[in-house]
Amino acid sequence: MDLRIKSFEEYKAKYAQSVEKPEQFWDEIANSFNWVKKYDKVLDWEFETPKVEWFSGGKLNITENCLDRHLAKRGNKLALIWEPNDPKERFVRWTYRELYEKVCQFANALKSQNVKKGDRVIIYMPMIPELKVAVLACARIGAVHSVVFAGFSASAMADRIEDAKAKVVITSDGLNRGTKQIPLKRIVDEALESCSSVETVIVYDCLSWLPNMKPGRDVWWHDVIKDVALECPAEPMDAEDMLFILYTSGSTGKPKGVVHTCAGYMVYAAYSFQNVFQVEESDIYWCTADIGWITGHTYIVYGPLLSGATSLMFEGVPTYPDPGRFWQICDKHSVNIFYTAPTAIRALMACGDDHVLSYSLDSLKVLGTVGEPINEEAWQWYHLHVGKRNCPIVDTWWQTETGGIMISGLGAHSPMHPTHAGYPLPGIQPALLNQEGKEILENEEEGYLCIKFPWPSMIRTTYGDHERCKNVYFSHYDGYYFTGDGAKRDKDGMYRIIGRVDDVINVSGHRFGTAEIEDAMNTNPMVVESAVVGYPHDIKGQGIYAYVICNEMPTDPDFARGSIIETVVEQIGKIAKPEKIQFVSGLPKTRSGKIMRRILRKVAEGEADKLGDTSTLLDPDIVDEIVSGAI
Ligand code: WTA
Repeated sequence: MDLRIKSFEEYKAKYAQSVEKPEQFWDEIANSFNWVKKYDKVLDWEFETPKVEWFSGGKLNITENCLDRHLAKRGNKLALIWEPNDPKERFVRWTYRELYEKVCQFANALKSQNVKKGDRVIIYMPMIPELKVAVLACARIGAVHSVVFAGFSASAMADRIEDAKAKVVITSDGLNRGTKQIPLKRIVDEALESCSSVETVIVYDCLSWLPNMKPGRDVWWHDVIKDVALECPAEPMDAEDMLFILYTSGSTGKPKGVVHTCAGYMVYAAYSFQNVFQVEESDIYWCTADIGWITGHTYIVYGPLLSGATSLMFEGVPTYPDPGRFWQICDKHSVNIFYTAPTAIRALMACGDDHVLSYSLDSLKVLGTVGEPINEEAWQWYHLHVGKRNCPIVDTWWQTETGGIMISGLGAHSPMHPTHAGYPLPGIQPALLNQEGKEILENEEEGYLCIKFPWPSMIRTTYGDHERCKNVYFSHYDGYYFTGDGAKRDKDGMYRIIGRVDDVINVSGHRFGTAEIEDAMNTNPMVVESAVVGYPHDIKGQGIYAYVICNEMPTDPDFARGSIIETVVEQIGKIAKPEKIQFVSGLPKTRSGKIMRRILRKVAEGEADKLGDTSTLLDPDIVDEIVSGAI
């Protein structure tokens, strides 16, 4: 049960063992879980197809490992503390037994709505305890959950519903986020106008808004949980049965459904959670992410529960009612482990030190960051003002596709170097590749970050399109999983993540493909063509800079910008709003018609003097126009 490594020496020994005898290494860890039927084989793999199977032949249910197995010893321990958006509202605390009963009850409700093993269920909900219940209830009965972040638009949700061919949507009337309220059910209704697979919508009453309920399709959460039992046997799942789909953006096309399966994901979620955060039995752990992202899946829902930990969940935003909210919550609930994103740290840092200095924060022991590279200044601020120089910071590098943290410190047990994620976790074998696809073996070198051996929680496929999984992740370099990130290894072998090397922009820790944003903009009737790049942004890490060709140069550019932004918000959501829009008469293209984004990136970064060779362009003059009109 306690999977923790307790010193750097032990880490080194375990790491070596995990590389020499990976199967034995993972077998020992997997053995500590509850299996309905023990697996026959630890690992079967090849990266060509790719085909990766962990613990095959095994049968299990992840919720039995999250809930049932804790009841004897931890039935009365808090599983969840929920802090509402409004600090004046009452917070919620549920023990493991209470959570278990609520999950079983809702699982029975899903069954009563004809949800079966393998059915896909879209969850589009606020950060309320019922979101956790909905996720676990799906897993309990073997339905595949796909949580859609409640900031995505109707159109983005419709794409996901269609791709997953979802049968059920679970939502609420609306949600609270800071001073704003968002009508979730209305957005679902709009999305469903174009989706035929959905038979049932279950609506949780969050704001007493009385939304329209479509007869025969829409049912209330409080009605479906009436008269069902508080016990629900867990569906025995094959190790490689799908657990969930989570959509994420890549450099091309629409977001793809990253598929994670039951056993491997379970083992790695628990192992990485316990080791990275070094969680003790009595600790209160808080991850500020939203369950709509992978961080929320692995480190709000599954990792903590698999480990019997107490995890805090927050409905609101860091700046409401004031920029001291995070720290107020840490003091109020005596939070010991705090995990957040660099963008949140930078945003709070910009609001001044007073907000953080008025709280003691003396319960904190370990701090974490995730989502993007953390800059030195934000790291130092976090270390000094939040950690009071007493807390290690774990800079955790990982991805939706990796399922769990791959490179990171392990609590206080690892050497810490600001802006460096550090060493790989046991079982993780990173490699840096050069332009030619050859592995770089030396330190103090930079290259494309790949992984050369499977780990239990790795992506298995992209839903409905295995070829895409192969092309995106396994075809760049034979025999390697390609992350899309660049990294540098320092003289001690520590990794520093540099950022994406593909056409993915990371805005406040959220991934967007340039093509995805361009496609959205191009649906605006004024827009003929567009090209999007990322540029450095003080708070968001990267901002979105769009170059747009309109049918004619807009006479009222502000109006045109407003209209294009509105289109992006409609197509994707507010989180994908372009920060800067420059109207241009053409784009720098090669003779073969390919947009030279390198040039656009340099201009957006304010480095127009470093454009390099532009002689291969079809129309080199366009560059001068773009440079002189840069925003
Ligand atoms: C970036 C989030 C630097 C990286 C868990 C990766 C990071 C992408 C870090 C995945 C970090 C995440 N340092 N960069 N500690 N963590 N990234 O799928 O570019 O939302 O490829 O998963 O975020 O984003 P995703």
